[in-house]
Amino acid sequence: MQNHTRVMLRGAMELPGDKSISHRAVMLGSIAGGRTEIQGFLPGEDCLSTIRCFRAMGTKITQEGTRVTVQGMGLHGLKAPSAPLDCGNSGTTMRLLSGILAAQSFSSVLTGDSSLRTRPMGRIMRPLREMGAEIQSLAGSDTAPLRISGGRLSGIHYLSPVASAQLKSAVLLAGLYADSPSSVTEPSLSRDHSERMLRHFGAKLHSSTDSEGRPVTTIEPAEALHAAQISVPGDLSSAAYFIAAALLLPGSELRINKVGVNPTRSGILEVAEAMGGSIEVLSHTDHDAEPTADLLIRASRLHGTEIGGALIPRLIDELPVIAAMACQAEGRTVIRDAAELKLKESNRIRVMTEELQKLGAAVTETTDGMIIEGGHPLHGASIASHKDHRIAMSFAVLSLIADGPVHISDPDCVNISMPDFYERLRSVCR
Ligand code: S3P
Repeated sequence: MQNHTRVMLRGAMELPGDKSISHRAVMLGSIAGGRTEIQGFLPGEDCLSTIRCFRAMGTKITQEGTRVTVQGMGLHGLKAPSAPLDCGNSGTTMRLLSGILAAQSFSSVLTGDSSLRTRPMGRIMRPLREMGAEIQSLAGSDTAPLRISGGRLSGIHYLSPVASAQLKSAVLLAGLYADSPSSVTEPSLSRDHSERMLRHFGAKLHSSTDSEGRPVTTIEPAEALHAAQISVPGDLSSAAYFIAAALLLPGSELRINKVGVNPTRSGILEVAEAMGGSIEVLSHTDHDAEPTADLLIRASRLHGTEIGGALIPRLIDELPVIAAMACQAEGRTVIRDAAELKLKESNRIRVMTEELQKLGAAVTETTDGMIIEGGHPLHGASIASHKDHRIAMSFAVLSLIADGPVHISDPDCVNISMPDFYERLRSVCR
């Protein structure tokens, strides 16, 4: 094991608001009637892209730091944008917004940055076309820019090939406008923030399982949604970097307050525990239908584990930092069933494997994951973040452990989900 006695993490902190919930609050607020007030909004670049897109369709949104007010336009009040809607780096903005645009009586174009324009959009184009929308890739394949000509939609029962909350949410949002109920069956349950928030705004949804035990989510068409007050919990995906650092750095004891622990997102806590990590879940509360807790993390001796199956969608965004953690645990960690990781802001299987190897870690890429032999000492190196926020933050954690400097390219990409990440990390380092 590495001698990493230089720093430890101590103190108490809160983290910025949950990214997935912040996006949804602005989207549902925009198509609801009345004034939605959001507290704890994440002012990261992805969520600001969502605000920008809705402003371009006439929604009045005021944003001062973490407080956002949305003057809802009603289900049918959005206006045709005068230019392409720029979703920046945000897959959630593009895929969820497509569901809403599929039902509007105008056409629109959705575009994004060079990373987003390589990500697969066929997965949302197929069900939305089946519902009656016209969607075309202007790039000529299944990637953005997309032109969407919306209109009257029919309900569908869609058997999704992947456990993707973005795909499920696109269909549920379009389903609000359809002429009959719509459902999505998933191979295993993806994050359910849309379902929780849609109910909070007055939509009717039900959850069941099919004869093969797969989760089915059904939405009924809505006459209207009603404005709501939303208090966004801290983002567990952002907490994951601090959890990993506190577990790995001897002497650490860190409290993270008011963080979201929705069970469809909390796989990281189970994996950390399975690796021997000490995380106490304190003062559990339910806030606006989203469970929240304070976490107390203590440095622990970690060992390897196996991660796959239905656990994967519950920690998909945490896999880079889990891989980082695993290379300092004792023994082997196997990550499988995670081919979706290749389709994120970067190919996170390839990038994590190559960049961890540069630090001296023993990692092998597989077709749907990684095999990590833990316990190898880490040295300094220059790391390519590929402008992927979760890669940059994972290596910032390892920079506290490596015995030489770790240089990370495009470090500002953390602004996507946690603009003051480095300051926050420094503030709890002792
Ligand atoms: C998200 C869903 C997940 C996740 C992404 C946010 C969401 O993507 O990786 O960061 O807010 O719905 P997929 O739906 O592609 O799995």
